[in-house]
Amino acid sequence: MNTEEAKNRIHQLTEDLNRHNYNYYVLDNPTISDYDFDMLMKELEKLEEEFDYYLPDSPARRVGGEPVKDFQQVQHRIPMLSLSNTYSKDELLDFDTRIRKLTEQDFDYTCELKYDGSAISLQYKGGILDKAVTRGDGKTGDDVTSNIKTINSVPIKLFGSGYPEEFEMRGEVLLPFSSFNTLNKAREEAGESLFANPRNAASGSLKLQDPSIVAKRKLECFLYAFSAETYPVSTHYETLRNAKDWGFNVPPYIARCKDMDEVFAFIDEWDNARTELDFATDGVVIKVNQYSVQDELGFTAKSPRWAVAYKFKAEQAQSRLLSIDFQVGRTGAITPVANLEPVQLAGTTVKRASLHNEDIIRSLDVRVGDTVLVEKGGEIIPKIVGVDLALRPEGLKEFTFIENCPECGTKLERNDGEAAWFCPNAYHCPPQIKGGIIHFISRKAMDIDGLGEEKIEWFFDEGLIKNAADLYDLTYDQLFGLQRDLSDDGVTSRIVSIQEKSAHNIIQGIEESKNVPFARVLYALGIRHVGETVAQKLAEAAGSMDDLRKMNQLELLMIEDVGQKIADSLLSWFEDESNIAMLDRLKRVGIQMEAEKAELKGEQLAGKTFVVSGVFSNYSRDGIKDAIKAHGGKLVSSISAKTDYVLAGENMGPAKLAKAEKLGVQIIAEEEFMALIEP
Ligand code: IVH
Repeated sequence: MNTEEAKNRIHQLTEDLNRHNYNYYVLDNPTISDYDFDMLMKELEKLEEEFDYYLPDSPARRVGGEPVKDFQQVQHRIPMLSLSNTYSKDELLDFDTRIRKLTEQDFDYTCELKYDGSAISLQYKGGILDKAVTRGDGKTGDDVTSNIKTINSVPIKLFGSGYPEEFEMRGEVLLPFSSFNTLNKAREEAGESLFANPRNAASGSLKLQDPSIVAKRKLECFLYAFSAETYPVSTHYETLRNAKDWGFNVPPYIARCKDMDEVFAFIDEWDNARTELDFATDGVVIKVNQYSVQDELGFTAKSPRWAVAYKFKAEQAQSRLLSIDFQVGRTGAITPVANLEPVQLAGTTVKRASLHNEDIIRSLDVRVGDTVLVEKGGEIIPKIVGVDLALRPEGLKEFTFIENCPECGTKLERNDGEAAWFCPNAYHCPPQIKGGIIHFISRKAMDIDGLGEEKIEWFFDEGLIKNAADLYDLTYDQLFGLQRDLSDDGVTSRIVSIQEKSAHNIIQGIEESKNVPFARVLYALGIRHVGETVAQKLAEAAGSMDDLRKMNQLELLMIEDVGQKIADSLLSWFEDESNIAMLDRLKRVGIQMEAEKAELKGEQLAGKTFVVSGVFSNYSRDGIKDAIKAHGGKLVSSISAKTDYVLAGENMGPAKLAKAEKLGVQIIAEEEFMALIEP
C-alpha cells in the first residue's frame, strides 16, 4: 500500500469505526459483530502506526495525552446552575400554575430522568470537541477533556450538519451499576478504599490524572441540554433529537407532556421502571419545552424558572429484624447494626442495615423480632427508617443499649450533646488500635506508601501487626504471597494475595518512613488532642522524645498552644508502659526521635526563656521566634517567675504586662533584643 492509499484507508476506517461506535454506544444497535469491529480497529491502529498518520477524531486514540498534574481551570460561559427540586406533586402543580401566570404564550413540557452522576459541559467548535469541563463551583470548572475523550459515546467530531459554529452540550457522566460493582470488587481485592456510590465513583474518575485509568472505568455520558447564542430550532425536544443525529448520546428516557397529568404519568412510570436501569437516577426533570418561553421566564440566582426536579423517594423494603450487633469504630464510636432477614432492595440483597444510635432506636421503638422498613438512599449502607407496629408479635422485649464495649469490655461513655456512645479505652481496644495504626501510616503522619486502611486491617486480623512498631518487623517473605478469602458466603472462595511488587513497595515504604521528621512522628503516635500543629510545637520546645517524656505538667503548660487537656493527655500517654515499650522499639529501628536542630547562629541566648507578645517592626511573629531559637533561646507560652524575658512588641496586652511586672520578669523591647543577639 502506498502512502496515498494508506491515508485514504485511514480516513475510511476512522469514519466507519466512529459510526460503528455510535451505532453501538448511542443507538444500541450495532450493525457489525464485535469481532469484525476489533479487526477494523486493529487495521486502523496498524496503519496509523506504520504511516505515522492519524485524524483528530481517530477512534484508536481516545486514550491519549500525558497524565496531568493539575487540571486547567476554565470559566463557564454560561454558569452551570442547579435545579429547584421537590418531593411533592402538589408543589409541581404550584410550579405549573406559577409559570402559566408569568407568560401568555402556550407551551408544553419535556420530562427526562434525573441522572445521578457528575455534571459535564462539552464545548464544540466547528463540529469538533474543544473542551470538556466539570461543573466545579458552577462558575469555573476543571478541564477534563482527555478523560472525557476516553468515553466512547462522546463524539469527538460531529456527524451531519445544522449545528452552530460554537455551542455547548451539557450532561451527566455516570458509572453504570455493573461497572461500579466490578470497580469496587477490584478495589477491595487490591486493598483500596471503596467508593460509596456510583456518583462518587464517576466524579472521582473524572479527576484522575491518568486517562488510561479512566478509560478502564467504563464511564457513560448522557447529554440533556444544549446552549448557544442562537438556537437552530425552537424547542428543547427537537434540539435533543437533532443532537442525537449529530452523534450525541441523548438518552431515550424522555417524553413531551402537554399538561401535568402527562407529567405525573411519566413520573409514576419511571418511579417503578428505574429500578431496572443499570445506572442511578434520583428523579425526573421537568422542563418547559419552548425556548421562547424559557427566555421569558429566565433564571433566579440559582436555577432556571422554567424547570424543576421531582425527586423520587428513596427505595424502601420491609424485612424482619433478627438481631442487633454493636460495632466499634476506629475512633471508639459504637454503631448499632441491624441483622435482617435478607430482602431485595434497589438491585441488591440487603442483610444488614444501620440503626444509627441509641436515640434513634428509642424514638422508633425498634425491637428484635419487629417488621422494619429499610431504605436505601444514595449510600451503599441502607438504614432502618420505621417499624410496622401492627405486625409486632406479642411479648417483644424493649431494646436496651449495651453498657460495655463488645471488643474489650470497657464501660462505655457518652459525652453531653453527642449521639454516640464510645469506648474510652482508646489505646488498647482492638478496633481503636487498628485505627491508631491507620493514623500512624497516613499521609500527614508517617506517610507509608504501599499501605492503606484495608491492608492494615488485613495484617492486624492476620496477627502480623499488633501495634505500629510491629510494622518495622515485617519482612518481604511474610508479605509476598499472603492470602485472604474475600467471599462473604463461606461457600465460594475468592482468594486474593499480595504480589511481588506490592510486597516490595510496602517494605520500601516502611523503610523510607524512618526519615520522617520527629514532629510528624509525634503526630503519628495518635496521642489524644495532639494534632499536627501541637506536635510541631512540642517537637520544637522539647527537642527530643526523651526530653518531652521528662517534662512535668508545668513545663508542658509553658509550651505554646499546650493547655491542660493536652498536658494531661501527654502525661497519661507517657505513663502507659506499653506506649513506652513501643517507643523504645521505634527508636531502636531508627525512627527519628529528635528534632533537627535549627541552624544555630549564636549562643547569646543559651539557657534563657522568652515569652513573646505583641507585634514587631523588624520581624514577623514567627520570625522573631526563629531568631530566639537560632541564638539558643527557648520559647514558653506563659509568663512565670522562671521566665527570663518578656519580649514586648506593640499592642502587648496589659494583663501580660502586669503579670510580668508583678513577677519581676525583665521586659525588653525589640531594639534591646536585637542588641542582645548582636554578634
Ligand atoms: S437540566 C439549568 N436535566 O441535576 C440546569 N439536569 O440539580 C440544567 N441533572 O447540575 C440542568 N439529570 O447535573 C438537567 N435530565 C437532566 C438532568 C440534570 C441530572 C443534574 C445536573 C444538574 C443537577 C441539578
